[in-house]
Amino acid sequence: MAKSVLRVDLSPLSHRASGKVREIYEAGDELILVSTDRVSAFDVIMNQGVPGRGVVLTKLSEFWFGKLDFPHHLITTDLDKMPSPVTDHRDDLQGRTMFVRALDIVPVECIVRGYLAGSGWKEYQKSGTVCGVSLPPGLTESDRLPEPIFTPTTKAEEGHDEPLTYEEMEAIVGKERAQELRDVSMQLYAAGAEHARARGIILADTKFEFGLEGGKDGQLVLADEALTPDSSRYWDAETYAPGRSQDSFDKQILRNWLETQVWDKTPPPPTIPQEILDKIAARYRDIMARLMD
Ligand SMILES: Nc1ncnc2c1ncn2[C@@H]1O[C@H](COP(=O)(O)OP(=O)(O)OP(=O)(O)O)[C@@H](O)[C@H]1O
Ligand SMILES: [Mg+2]
Repeated sequence: MAKSVLRVDLSPLSHRASGKVREIYEAGDELILVSTDRVSAFDVIMNQGVPGRGVVLTKLSEFWFGKLDFPHHLITTDLDKMPSPVTDHRDDLQGRTMFVRALDIVPVECIVRGYLAGSGWKEYQKSGTVCGVSLPPGLTESDRLPEPIFTPTTKAEEGHDEPLTYEEMEAIVGKERAQELRDVSMQLYAAGAEHARARGIILADTKFEFGLEGGKDGQLVLADEALTPDSSRYWDAETYAPGRSQDSFDKQILRNWLETQVWDKTPPPPTIPQEILDKIAARYRDIMARLMD
């Protein structure tokens, strides 16, 4: 039975933050980002992990950083090149740890959507727009958009991110930087979508985060994770059909199983059978293998 890593403790390094999935530690001018095997569904973190999920997320980020033609924050995933407490936890950290340059993160989430899904579809039905961007009438759920659109949001410290109009984003980051963020995000999405499409996978939408190297006027650097199933909506091209919601490439098995349970979608979550966890794990390995092919 494969083991899941749900928690890590890298003391005496200073712990900066815990996300739903990741643990972040500080090491001088660098950060250590550890992706655990934690998994959430319906906004609730499950008590059990999906074995190897954090490894898949890390390997995919590393793959995309190497593939995308843009400066990024990743220094190495080699534990032996990281500060000493890391190698004391080799078994837990192997394959799921990124050593990155600590950057000033641009306080905007750069989302690009190529298809009409999720909150975008909800808004379109009400107003014919997505995050304020007008779209042609007559589109149906999961339709491919005539062109990808850029729909930035705030980066909320707590609670949900709020959509930003392009003008609101300009007010936060400045005119020039806003344009650069939009152009770069669109280019990165296009490159990712093309690569995925050739492997039978649709990249419906994704979120990028950027940092600045060398202060306010510095170079834009791609940070955080890149084009992982956690930051992106991936669909299987084979089963894709507009006019309905699409199965999520990675989490559908979990969602479907949870729907069979008597559970009100608030903590505590039900206990997931190992067999289901193993199935989900295989699904993650599958998407990784297909994308990295
Ligand atoms: N190179 C970097 N320098 C500084 N901060 C970074 C860098 N790369 C990523 N970050 C930040 O680290 C944090 C990663 O957190 P993480 O994604 O694990 O949790 P979260 O965003 O708070 O919540 P969620 O689990 O919903 O994603 C983000 O705030 C991100 O902006
Ligand atoms: Mg995040």
